[in-house]
Amino acid sequence: MSNIRRLRESDKEDILEIARNTWDGHDYVPKFFDSWLKDIDSYPVGIEDDGHIIALANLRVIDDGKTGWMEALRVHPSYRGKGLATILTQHIVQLAMNIPVKRIRYTTAVSNKTSLHLAESVGMRRKFTLAGYWQDNPTEISWRSSSKPLFEANASDVCQDLIDAKLLPFNIIICDWKALDATPEGLAKVDSLSQFWIQKKAGKVTSFSLSLDHDDVSDKQWTFTIYAKDVSGFLDHLSHHVKMASETKSTSIFGLFEPEYLETFHNLEWDKQTKYEIEEMSLTLLERIL
Ligand SMILES: CC(C)(COP(=O)(O)OP(=O)(O)OC[C@H]1O[C@@H](n2cnc3c(N)ncnc32)[C@H](O)[C@@H]1OP(=O)(O)O)[C@@H](O)C(=O)NCCC(=O)NCCS
Repeated sequence: MSNIRRLRESDKEDILEIARNTWDGHDYVPKFFDSWLKDIDSYPVGIEDDGHIIALANLRVIDDGKTGWMEALRVHPSYRGKGLATILTQHIVQLAMNIPVKRIRYTTAVSNKTSLHLAESVGMRRKFTLAGYWQDNPTEISWRSSSKPLFEANASDVCQDLIDAKLLPFNIIICDWKALDATPEGLAKVDSLSQFWIQKKAGKVTSFSLSLDHDDVSDKQWTFTIYAKDVSGFLDHLSHHVKMASETKSTSIFGLFEPEYLETFHNLEWDKQTKYEIEEMSLTLLERIL
Protein backbone atom coordinates (compact mmCIF):
# COMPACT_ATOMS: atom_id res chain seq x y z
CA MET A 1 0.00 0.00 0.00
CA SER A 2 2.99 2.34 0.35
CA ASN A 3 3.32 3.36 -3.28
CA ILE A 4 4.46 6.96 -2.82
CA ARG A 5 4.67 9.27 -5.83
CA ARG A 6 4.45 12.92 -6.82
CA LEU A 7 0.88 14.15 -7.20
CA ARG A 8 -0.46 15.23 -10.59
CA GLU A 9 -3.45 16.99 -12.07
CA SER A 10 -5.33 13.71 -12.63
CA ASP A 11 -5.31 13.09 -8.83
CA LYS A 12 -7.58 16.05 -8.22
CA GLU A 13 -10.82 14.10 -7.73
CA ASP A 14 -9.15 11.87 -5.10
CA ILE A 15 -7.70 14.94 -3.36
CA LEU A 16 -11.13 16.61 -3.30
CA GLU A 17 -12.64 13.42 -1.88
CA ILE A 18 -10.11 13.44 0.99
CA ALA A 19 -10.70 17.18 1.58
CA ARG A 20 -14.48 16.66 1.75
CA ASN A 21 -13.78 14.22 4.58
CA THR A 22 -11.36 16.46 6.49
CA TRP A 23 -12.49 19.01 9.08
CA ASP A 24 -16.12 18.77 7.97
CA GLY A 25 -15.12 19.83 4.48
CA HIS A 26 -13.43 23.09 5.68
CA ASP A 27 -10.05 22.05 4.29
CA TYR A 28 -7.69 24.52 2.59
CA VAL A 29 -6.12 21.85 0.34
CA PRO A 30 -8.49 22.33 -2.67
CA LYS A 31 -7.63 26.04 -2.71
CA PHE A 32 -3.87 25.42 -3.04
CA PHE A 33 -3.61 22.07 -4.84
CA ASP A 34 -3.28 23.53 -8.39
CA SER A 35 -0.61 26.02 -7.31
CA TRP A 36 1.46 23.28 -5.61
CA LEU A 37 1.52 21.32 -8.87
CA LYS A 38 2.99 24.32 -10.73
CA ASP A 39 5.27 25.61 -7.97
CA ILE A 40 8.94 24.62 -8.39
CA ASP A 41 9.41 24.94 -4.62
CA SER A 42 6.60 22.50 -3.80
CA TYR A 43 6.83 18.72 -3.54
CA PRO A 44 3.25 17.40 -3.29
CA VAL A 45 3.26 13.64 -2.75
CA GLY A 46 0.66 10.97 -2.18
CA ILE A 47 0.17 7.27 -1.51
CA GLU A 48 -1.65 5.39 -4.23
CA ASP A 49 -3.75 2.31 -3.63
CA ASP A 50 -5.77 0.52 -6.29
CA GLY A 51 -5.47 3.48 -8.68
CA HIS A 52 -6.54 6.10 -6.11
CA ILE A 53 -4.67 8.56 -3.91
CA ILE A 54 -5.57 7.74 -0.31
CA ALA A 55 -3.06 9.98 1.53
CA LEU A 56 -1.17 13.18 0.71
CA ALA A 57 1.29 15.75 2.01
CA ASN A 58 3.20 18.72 0.65
CA LEU A 59 6.71 19.99 1.32
CA ARG A 60 7.29 23.61 0.31
CA VAL A 61 10.68 25.28 0.38
CA ILE A 62 10.42 28.74 1.97
CA ASP A 63 12.59 31.28 3.82
CA ASP A 64 14.97 31.70 0.90
CA GLY A 65 15.69 27.97 0.70
CA LYS A 66 16.33 27.51 4.44
CA THR A 67 13.07 25.87 5.54
CA GLY A 68 11.15 22.84 4.34
CA TRP A 69 7.57 23.71 5.27
CA MET A 70 5.46 20.58 5.88
CA GLU A 71 1.77 20.95 5.19
CA ALA A 72 -1.44 19.25 4.12
CA LEU A 73 -0.83 15.85 5.70
CA ARG A 74 -4.10 14.01 5.08
CA VAL A 75 -5.16 10.38 5.12
CA HIS A 76 -8.56 9.31 3.83
CA PRO A 77 -10.70 8.33 6.86
CA SER A 78 -11.13 4.76 5.58
CA TYR A 79 -7.34 4.27 5.66
CA ARG A 80 -6.42 5.90 8.97
CA GLY A 81 -4.64 4.07 11.77
CA LYS A 82 -2.60 1.93 9.36
CA GLY A 83 0.65 3.89 9.55
CA LEU A 84 0.24 5.82 6.27
CA ALA A 85 0.78 9.26 7.81
CA THR A 86 3.92 7.92 9.48
CA ILE A 87 5.24 6.65 6.13
CA LEU A 88 4.46 9.96 4.39
CA THR A 89 6.01 12.03 7.18
CA GLN A 90 9.23 9.99 7.03
CA HIS A 91 9.23 10.36 3.23
CA ILE A 92 8.83 14.14 3.47
CA VAL A 93 11.70 14.38 5.98
CA GLN A 94 13.91 12.41 3.59
CA LEU A 95 12.86 14.71 0.72
CA ALA A 96 13.82 17.74 2.79
CA MET A 97 17.22 16.20 3.55
CA ASN A 98 17.80 15.49 -0.13
CA ILE A 99 16.93 19.00 -1.35
CA PRO A 100 18.67 19.96 1.08
CA VAL A 101 17.13 22.48 3.48
CA LYS A 102 18.51 23.54 6.87
CA ARG A 103 15.39 22.69 8.88
CA ILE A 104 11.85 21.40 8.66
CA ARG A 105 8.90 23.12 10.27
CA TYR A 106 5.16 22.95 10.55
CA THR A 107 2.38 24.24 12.75
CA THR A 108 -0.46 22.22 14.19
CA ALA A 109 -3.19 22.56 16.79
CA VAL A 110 -2.02 21.73 20.32
CA SER A 111 -5.06 19.44 20.52
CA ASN A 112 -3.98 17.39 17.47
CA LYS A 113 -2.26 14.66 19.46
CA THR A 114 -1.71 12.43 16.41
CA SER A 115 0.04 15.24 14.57
CA LEU A 116 2.24 16.01 17.61
CA HIS A 117 3.09 12.31 17.96
CA LEU A 118 4.04 12.13 14.26
CA ALA A 119 6.30 15.18 14.64
CA GLU A 120 8.02 13.66 17.64
CA SER A 121 8.52 10.36 15.80
CA VAL A 122 10.69 12.14 13.22
CA GLY A 123 12.64 14.14 15.80
CA MET A 124 10.74 17.45 15.61
CA ARG A 125 10.34 19.54 18.77
CA ARG A 126 7.96 22.31 19.83
CA LYS A 127 9.58 25.71 19.33
CA PHE A 128 6.77 27.95 20.63
CA THR A 129 3.03 28.05 21.08
CA LEU A 130 0.46 30.79 20.51
CA ALA A 131 -2.95 30.81 22.16
CA GLY A 132 -5.79 30.55 19.69
CA TYR A 133 -9.34 31.80 19.86
CA TRP A 134 -12.18 31.01 17.48
CA GLN A 135 -15.81 32.11 17.58
CA ASP A 136 -18.63 32.34 15.12
CA ASN A 137 -20.91 35.40 14.82
CA PRO A 138 -18.32 38.02 15.92
CA THR A 139 -20.91 40.73 15.17
CA GLU A 140 -22.50 39.70 18.50
CA ILE A 141 -19.42 40.78 20.52
CA SER A 142 -20.12 44.21 21.92
CA TRP A 143 -16.90 44.42 24.01
CA ARG A 144 -14.49 47.19 22.94
CA SER A 145 -11.40 48.64 24.59
CA SER A 146 -9.19 51.33 23.23
CA SER A 147 -6.49 53.37 24.91
CA LYS A 148 -4.19 54.31 22.04
CA PRO A 149 -4.87 54.38 18.29
CA LEU A 150 -3.50 51.81 15.83
CA PHE A 151 -2.05 52.69 12.45
CA GLU A 152 -1.99 50.65 9.30
CA ALA A 153 1.57 50.01 8.08
CA ASN A 154 3.36 48.09 5.38
CA ALA A 155 6.31 45.69 5.49
CA SER A 156 8.94 48.27 4.60
CA ASP A 157 7.66 50.64 7.35
CA VAL A 158 7.88 48.03 10.09
CA CYS A 159 10.59 45.59 9.08
CA GLN A 160 13.64 46.85 10.96
CA ASP A 161 11.56 48.18 13.88
CA LEU A 162 9.90 44.83 14.30
CA ILE A 163 13.22 43.00 14.40
CA ASP A 164 14.70 45.59 16.81
CA ALA A 165 11.63 45.46 19.08
CA LYS A 166 12.01 41.64 19.38
CA LEU A 167 8.22 41.33 19.35
CA LEU A 168 8.09 38.11 17.35
CA PRO A 169 9.23 34.89 19.05
CA PHE A 170 12.40 33.69 17.27
CA ASN A 171 11.70 36.43 14.69
CA ILE A 172 9.13 34.11 13.06
CA ILE A 173 5.86 35.64 11.93
CA ILE A 174 2.67 33.59 12.14
CA CYS A 175 -0.01 34.33 9.60
CA ASP A 176 -3.04 32.08 9.92
CA TRP A 177 -1.48 28.56 10.27
CA LYS A 178 1.69 29.46 8.38
CA ALA A 179 5.08 30.66 9.62
CA LEU A 180 7.81 32.63 7.88
CA ASP A 181 11.09 34.11 9.04
CA ALA A 182 10.49 37.84 9.54
CA THR A 183 13.16 38.94 7.09
CA PRO A 184 12.41 41.83 4.67
CA GLU A 185 11.37 39.21 2.05
CA GLY A 186 9.28 37.19 4.52
CA LEU A 187 7.47 40.29 5.80
CA ALA A 188 6.84 41.50 2.25
CA LYS A 189 5.29 38.12 1.45
CA VAL A 190 3.03 38.21 4.52
CA ASP A 191 2.17 41.84 3.76
CA SER A 192 0.99 40.83 0.28
CA LEU A 193 -1.55 38.49 1.90
CA SER A 194 -2.60 40.53 4.91
CA GLN A 195 -2.88 43.96 6.54
CA PHE A 196 -0.41 45.16 9.19
CA TRP A 197 -1.37 47.27 12.23
CA ILE A 198 1.04 48.93 14.67
CA GLN A 199 1.36 51.18 17.69
CA LYS A 200 4.51 53.18 18.34
CA LYS A 201 6.00 54.94 21.34
CA ALA A 202 8.91 57.35 20.99
CA GLY A 203 9.29 56.22 17.38
CA LYS A 204 9.56 52.52 18.30
CA VAL A 205 7.01 49.78 17.55
CA THR A 206 5.41 48.61 20.79
CA SER A 207 2.69 46.40 19.34
CA PHE A 208 1.94 44.78 16.02
CA SER A 209 -0.80 42.67 14.51
CA LEU A 210 -1.74 41.34 11.13
CA SER A 211 -5.13 40.44 9.75
CA LEU A 212 -6.57 38.48 6.87
CA ASP A 213 -10.08 38.51 5.54
CA HIS A 214 -10.80 34.96 4.30
CA ASP A 215 -13.82 34.72 2.06
CA ASP A 216 -14.83 31.13 1.38
CA VAL A 217 -18.14 29.94 -0.01
CA SER A 218 -19.49 28.94 3.39
CA ASP A 219 -17.53 31.19 5.72
CA LYS A 220 -16.16 34.72 5.91
CA GLN A 221 -13.47 34.57 8.56
CA TRP A 222 -11.54 37.45 10.12
CA THR A 223 -8.12 36.03 11.10
CA PHE A 224 -5.47 37.87 13.12
CA THR A 225 -2.23 37.47 15.09
CA ILE A 226 -1.27 39.93 17.84
CA TYR A 227 2.22 40.65 19.21
CA ALA A 228 2.43 43.25 21.98
CA LYS A 229 4.91 44.46 24.59
CA ASP A 230 2.17 45.04 27.18
CA VAL A 231 -1.44 44.29 28.10
CA SER A 232 -2.80 47.62 26.92
CA GLY A 233 -1.29 47.10 23.45
CA PHE A 234 -2.74 43.58 23.36
CA LEU A 235 -6.22 44.85 24.30
CA ASP A 236 -6.09 47.69 21.75
CA HIS A 237 -5.32 45.24 18.95
CA LEU A 238 -7.86 42.67 20.14
CA SER A 239 -10.56 45.33 20.26
CA HIS A 240 -9.57 46.55 16.80
CA HIS A 241 -9.93 43.07 15.30
CA VAL A 242 -13.23 42.36 17.02
CA LYS A 243 -14.49 45.67 15.59
CA MET A 244 -13.14 44.92 12.10
CA ALA A 245 -14.69 41.44 12.15
CA SER A 246 -18.00 43.04 12.99
CA GLU A 247 -17.72 45.85 10.42
CA THR A 248 -16.79 43.41 7.64
CA LYS A 249 -19.75 41.22 8.67
CA SER A 250 -17.46 38.25 9.12
CA THR A 251 -19.20 35.02 10.09
CA SER A 252 -16.31 33.88 12.28
CA ILE A 253 -13.18 35.21 13.92
CA PHE A 254 -9.89 33.39 14.58
CA GLY A 255 -7.15 35.07 16.58
CA LEU A 256 -3.69 34.07 17.78
CA PHE A 257 -1.70 35.76 20.52
CA GLU A 258 1.04 35.10 23.02
CA PRO A 259 0.09 32.82 25.94
CA GLU A 260 1.15 35.52 28.45
CA TYR A 261 -2.12 37.33 27.59
CA LEU A 262 -4.36 34.31 28.22
CA GLU A 263 -5.31 35.41 31.73
CA THR A 264 -6.23 38.89 30.50
CA PHE A 265 -8.22 37.31 27.69
CA HIS A 266 -10.10 34.96 30.03
CA ASN A 267 -11.01 37.88 32.27
CA LEU A 268 -12.68 39.83 29.48
CA GLU A 269 -16.35 40.25 30.01
CA TRP A 270 -17.84 38.69 27.00
CA ASP A 271 -19.48 35.34 26.73
CA LYS A 272 -17.10 33.07 24.85
CA GLN A 273 -16.87 29.90 26.91
CA THR A 274 -19.64 28.02 25.13
CA LYS A 275 -18.14 28.58 21.70
CA TYR A 276 -14.69 27.02 21.89
CA GLU A 277 -12.00 25.40 23.94
CA ILE A 278 -8.87 27.55 23.80
CA GLU A 279 -6.54 24.52 23.70
CA GLU A 280 -8.29 23.21 20.63
CA MET A 281 -7.32 26.26 18.59
CA SER A 282 -3.88 26.96 20.06
CA LEU A 283 -1.07 26.65 17.59
CA THR A 284 2.35 25.16 18.10
CA LEU A 285 5.34 25.45 15.79
CA LEU A 286 7.39 22.28 15.40
CA GLU A 287 10.93 22.23 14.10
CA ARG A 288 13.87 19.96 13.46
CA ILE A 289 17.28 21.19 12.40
CA LEU A 290 18.55 18.81 9.73
C1 LIG B 1 -3.55 12.97 11.40
C2 LIG B 1 -3.66 11.91 10.28
C3 LIG B 1 -2.88 12.41 9.09
C4 LIG B 1 -3.07 10.61 10.83
O1 LIG B 1 -3.10 9.63 9.80
P1 LIG B 1 -2.93 8.05 10.09
O2 LIG B 1 -2.52 7.39 8.84
O3 LIG B 1 -4.14 7.55 10.78
O4 LIG B 1 -1.72 8.03 11.14
P2 LIG B 1 -0.80 6.77 11.49
O5 LIG B 1 -1.60 5.51 11.30
O6 LIG B 1 0.47 6.87 10.69
O7 LIG B 1 -0.55 6.94 13.03
C5 LIG B 1 -0.12 8.08 13.60
C6 LIG B 1 0.54 7.83 14.95
O8 LIG B 1 -0.15 8.65 15.93
C7 LIG B 1 -0.51 7.84 17.05
N1 LIG B 1 -1.74 8.39 17.64
C8 LIG B 1 -3.00 8.30 17.20
N2 LIG B 1 -3.81 8.96 18.04
C9 LIG B 1 -3.06 9.48 19.02
C10 LIG B 1 -3.31 10.25 20.19
N3 LIG B 1 -4.56 10.63 20.51
N4 LIG B 1 -2.27 10.61 20.98
C11 LIG B 1 -1.00 10.25 20.67
N5 LIG B 1 -0.69 9.50 19.58
C12 LIG B 1 -1.72 9.11 18.76
C13 LIG B 1 -0.70 6.44 16.49
O9 LIG B 1 -0.61 5.49 17.52
C14 LIG B 1 0.48 6.39 15.52
O10 LIG B 1 1.68 6.24 16.21
P3 LIG B 1 2.48 4.84 16.35
O11 LIG B 1 2.70 4.35 14.95
O12 LIG B 1 3.75 5.25 17.04
O13 LIG B 1 1.60 3.96 17.17
C15 LIG B 1 -5.14 11.65 9.88
O14 LIG B 1 -5.88 11.33 11.02
C16 LIG B 1 -5.80 12.83 9.17
O15 LIG B 1 -5.77 12.93 7.94
N6 LIG B 1 -6.40 13.77 9.98
C17 LIG B 1 -7.00 14.97 9.46
C18 LIG B 1 -5.97 16.01 9.02
C19 LIG B 1 -4.90 16.28 10.05
O16 LIG B 1 -5.14 16.41 11.23
N7 LIG B 1 -3.63 16.40 9.57
C20 LIG B 1 -2.46 16.60 10.38
C21 LIG B 1 -2.24 17.98 10.83
S1 LIG B 1 -2.12 19.15 9.57
